[in-house]
Amino acid sequence: MNYFEYRNDQLFAEDVALADLAQRVGTPFYVYSARTLRRHFRVFDEAFAGTDHLICYAMKALSNLSILKLLAAMGSGFDIVSVGELMRCLRAGADPRKIVFSGVGKTDEEIAAALEAEILMINVESRPELHRVSEVAARMRRRAPVSLRVNPDLDPGTHPHISTGHRDSKFGVPLSQVDEYYAEARGLENLELVGLSTHIGSQITDMAPFSEAAAKVTAIVKSVCGAGIALKYLDIGGGLGIPYQENPPPPAEYAAAMLKPIRGLGLKIIAEPGRVLVGNAGVLVTRVLYVKETDVKRFVVVDGAMNDLIRPVLYEAYHAIQHVERRVGKLEVADVVGPVCESGDFFAREREIPQTRSGDLLAIMSAGAYGFVMSSNYNSRPRAPEILVDGTDVHVIRDRESFEDLIRGEHLVELRTHGD
Ligand code: LLP
Repeated sequence: MNYFEYRNDQLFAEDVALADLAQRVGTPFYVYSARTLRRHFRVFDEAFAGTDHLICYAMKALSNLSILKLLAAMGSGFDIVSVGELMRCLRAGADPRKIVFSGVGKTDEEIAAALEAEILMINVESRPELHRVSEVAARMRRRAPVSLRVNPDLDPGTHPHISTGHRDSKFGVPLSQVDEYYAEARGLENLELVGLSTHIGSQITDMAPFSEAAAKVTAIVKSVCGAGIALKYLDIGGGLGIPYQENPPPPAEYAAAMLKPIRGLGLKIIAEPGRVLVGNAGVLVTRVLYVKETDVKRFVVVDGAMNDLIRPVLYEAYHAIQHVERRVGKLEVADVVGPVCESGDFFAREREIPQTRSGDLLAIMSAGAYGFVMSSNYNSRPRAPEILVDGTDVHVIRDRESFEDLIRGEHLVELRTHGD
């Protein structure tokens, strides 16, 4: 469910015509719907109603300050993976007591910043990290609240690049070592063992791996608590898929699958949804430059590119493409490609789309999650602006980059050209 709809054959973001926005800000641009974001947060939150819980939005999915501010104001906490994300969410008004810090490679500076900010907990992923957190906390004369991230060793049935719960993955601690880790951590007096966490992957559309993970972490929580460690939080990670092409179950079904075994534990549940909150709340709008016909193919060349949205080539991801001005009639098969000098620069391959002409506007749908945040300046392309629509209101929440932005921090040095 989202608020990108046709009205009189014109695609709208809430009450704003995308064609008007394109006139105003140029193309390509990202546009997000505030009403969709609010709705998604509410639906996800309500799925856990009746259970003591905290939603920590995985802000890596979309981290514009205004988006974070909206979610923080709705009561969301945040799952962060770097000090940059910590600073972003604090700047946006997040409550530090609602922040959890994930990731396999936290630096001393990042650990110190998290302790300084007094976040809820640090999700530790290895034995050396456990000791490092303890040392940093000792230097700061603090006790660090930590949770151990466990790897439940299962196949979440998603793309290998976004699968994290298998034993081959760099993430988490093997289940077989969890008791040992906690016993060891108990001896470190600058640590406070407050939780256990897991995250098995992303864009998961089948509930079975979630249920399996829940059952496995339930067993391990019981074992840890049985050993006399009073955990407070169980962090179930994120990962619920969205309907790019397939139809994943709604948050209520996901929550039911997850909560069934763990509800009885009496711990506060932390969920780290990313994509499901923001994915369908954003689209990338791009303009067709040329339609190029070869002997074997038709290429729709647009002004957006892989530097703006890398998901199609990186994960073989499907994003629906809609004409901003609705086209009916004959479909034709085309590759929708960008101007970047790589064959991997495509939004769709061999896609049936309505007849397309130079100058048409296309909306690449479901681009809110892992879209702008993964964009780059490759080919010296300035990053696209981000627009947030709320009813009839249009907010530019990030400007289009300029040439000066592109070269910021670079230095033109004098070098000799001969004499070696
Ligand atoms: N928690 C942790 C510890 C994570 O690593 C992630 C995502 C999440 C929560 C949120 O997962 P979500 O609810 O969004 O599935 N760039 C990829 C996705 C990478 C996901 C990384 N971790 C993509 O575009 O598909």
